[in-house]
Amino acid sequence: MFYLYYTIFLLLLYNVLLLYAKADEPIIPSFATTPPMGWNTWNKYGCAIDHHLIQQTADAMVSEGYLAAGYNYLNLDDCWQSNNRTDNGTIVIDPLAFPFGIKPVADYVHSKGLKFGIYSSAGRKTCAGRMASLEYEKNDAKSYSDWGVDYLKYDNCNYDEGVPAPLRFRHMRDALLQTGRDIFFSVCTWGVENTWEWAPEMGHSFRTHDDIYNDWQSIVDILQVHSQVVHLGGPGHWADPDMLEIGNGVLSIDESITHFSIWSAMKAPLILGNSLTNQDPLGKPALRIRHIKEDQDVWGGPLSNNSMVVVIVNYKPYPQNITVDISTELGYADGYARELWTQDEINLVNSSSIITQTLRPHACAMYKLTHGYLIHNLTTSITPSNNPSVTTTMTSNTNKQQGTEIPTIRYEAEGLNNLVQGLARRKGCALCSGGAYVMAIGNVNRPQTGTLIYRNITASLGPGEYTMRINYLDCFSWSTCGDFFTRRWHLRIRVNNGEPYWISLKSKRNPTITSDYSIGIVLDKQENNEIIFDDPNAYGPSIDYIELTPHTPLNQHQYVVQRYQQEGSSNVFELSFWESGDPLATTRLTRVLADFFWELLFIVICCALILRTLLLLYKHRHRLSYYKKL
Ligand SMILES: *[C@@H]1O[C@H](CO)[C@@H](O)[C@H](O)[C@H]1NC(C)=O
Ligand SMILES: *[C@@H]1O[C@H](CO)[C@@H](O)[C@H](O)[C@H]1NC(C)=O
Ligand SMILES: *[C@@H]1O[C@H](CO)[C@@H](O)[C@H](O)[C@H]1NC(C)=O
Ligand SMILES: *[C@@H]1O[C@H](CO)[C@@H](O)[C@H](O)[C@H]1NC(C)=O
Ligand SMILES: *[C@@H]1O[C@H](CO)[C@@H](O)[C@H](O)[C@H]1NC(C)=O
Ligand SMILES: *[C@@H]1O[C@H](CO)[C@@H](O)[C@H](O)[C@H]1NC(C)=O
Ligand SMILES: *[C@@H]1O[C@H](CO)[C@@H](O)[C@H](O)[C@H]1NC(C)=O
Repeated sequence: MFYLYYTIFLLLLYNVLLLYAKADEPIIPSFATTPPMGWNTWNKYGCAIDHHLIQQTADAMVSEGYLAAGYNYLNLDDCWQSNNRTDNGTIVIDPLAFPFGIKPVADYVHSKGLKFGIYSSAGRKTCAGRMASLEYEKNDAKSYSDWGVDYLKYDNCNYDEGVPAPLRFRHMRDALLQTGRDIFFSVCTWGVENTWEWAPEMGHSFRTHDDIYNDWQSIVDILQVHSQVVHLGGPGHWADPDMLEIGNGVLSIDESITHFSIWSAMKAPLILGNSLTNQDPLGKPALRIRHIKEDQDVWGGPLSNNSMVVVIVNYKPYPQNITVDISTELGYADGYARELWTQDEINLVNSSSIITQTLRPHACAMYKLTHGYLIHNLTTSITPSNNPSVTTTMTSNTNKQQGTEIPTIRYEAEGLNNLVQGLARRKGCALCSGGAYVMAIGNVNRPQTGTLIYRNITASLGPGEYTMRINYLDCFSWSTCGDFFTRRWHLRIRVNNGEPYWISLKSKRNPTITSDYSIGIVLDKQENNEIIFDDPNAYGPSIDYIELTPHTPLNQHQYVVQRYQQEGSSNVFELSFWESGDPLATTRLTRVLADFFWELLFIVICCALILRTLLLLYKHRHRLSYYKKL
């Protein structure tokens, strides 16, 4: 009997293992072994595309040497589709831009030795409002395969509220796989829903940040988030910081060179740009190994054949000398360092391993180290933005806890332990703590909402009452500054399984400052407390970080939790007048009164203006009739 059970058990185990083996099978074809290089229509042409443009571009990519330099993808972005499907679900192509359809265009591109890419969105409409692929993934994948598409950029616009991105993107991935054609699948989710946690198995590249803009600050901001997750990319699943903005007329020559150098060292997909080199076959992204805010960066990464790439960047608005020790910081000894833009060569064998480089503002130097060997793996001086990122202690001067050290723990909103759901996303930000924040929280784009979930909050003095200081960024555009009348942001807070609690935060209508607001919360666990920020109805502020400090005296800590558990009420509570940092917001009554005051003032001014206008009109007419009588 025992043996029978034993055999059944083994059989079950075997089946479970088989299941796992299946799940772990590499689903992604192995053709994307180096990051894709090519050209895309969007940054320059937007929706103004047609079949002439594609033909001309294909010709130019060959005649001007782009193809020879490795840029082999020619990708159509948004607006090749119409707004409609046929009755059998086949997508209808924009008849004005592509009167002969997509197939002849793809054939022409292929005839030049190039590969052909296309675009859609995991929603009901694309970002430009054309027909997208949600619920028609199979139809569209079939069309792409019939036309000979080699690359699909799949965007994240206009989806149904609450359907997670991993699910929507999986449908298209499976549909593409079913066609049997090798189609590069570019997951374009701007880093939402912690893209790097699920997308490496989903697509051949995954976006980590909001769209790039044609300015230097945008590049600095993207690196702030991308550098944290760049190591998760590699052959078959490239981390994508977005396309290149080179040659679009705003970046200086130095900035363009820096932009290009870091992008290629990070093994980013190089879509659009000038030519430097083919991508290295090893496919290991360079890591940011030194970063001084608004000052300098050093990036380093291994290349094939025992060589290495180093990029040194000057962020300062004036020239500076930057020094790197090749052996201690990069773990590379002997050989040569060749600067790839100037072709200057430094012999590292008998000289010191220290390179000093004078760099103009926003310029970089990019070295390839060859003919030497690795002494140790790369070491980085940068702490990843996991939570808790900063721990400070302060000595209390209140009577309650005289002489006690009270820990204050700061949790960055962009911390990688946090889950950023829906449309919410991390964004680089020069004035923010940690260099980034989380934007698009609350009801952003009805019905799509964004949520910030802190999952790993520690009760530093054990379960009990804590003061939570919320540091928020006031607004990032005038049209989205909270409530127009009340000048307040609304935010829903949930702590562990407690009742939701709404707060209203003052808006100063100035995106260049951060503001504070403090509220009390009860943490009833030692580790992994959860704090959720969202709002199904209103737009919330962007959050930079939260800071937690024990609120009750040490000896009463336990008592508070017991009381809270007995009452089972909300585990968020208002602090006293002077603790909250926003006195008018301490009680609902004062808040309502204050908001009412502003509204009243507004209405009074409006009424006064209208009355005055009416009066003037009346006088004017009166005078006219008076003159007429005369
Ligand atoms: C969309 O296609 C259907 C037929 O499939 C047609 O009846 C309808 O008029 C089309 N709508 C537009 C806006 O072209
Ligand atoms: C769907 O209809 C279009 C024309 O309306 C036709 O070209 C296409 O072959 C049809 N597809 C299927 C799968 O029936
Ligand atoms: C860089 O170093 C060189 C040589 O030591 C020196 O002449 C130059 O003034 C330095 N430049 C800056 C900006 O410090
Ligand atoms: C390094 O120095 C040694 C002797 O000091 C010399 O024999 C050798 O050629 C030098 N190597 C290079 C690459 O300059
Ligand atoms: C690899 O590096 C060695 C020197 O370390 C060099 O002689 C050789 O040409 C390199 N091979 C390739 C394929 O680049
Ligand atoms: C670098 O790290 C890898 C794995 O982490 C290890 O196998 C390798 O020996 C290390 N190389 C050096 C030179 O320390
Ligand atoms: C963070 O919290 C989640 C959920 O409670 C848990 O699964 C995860 O292991 C925690 N991570 C760390 C680093 O503590």
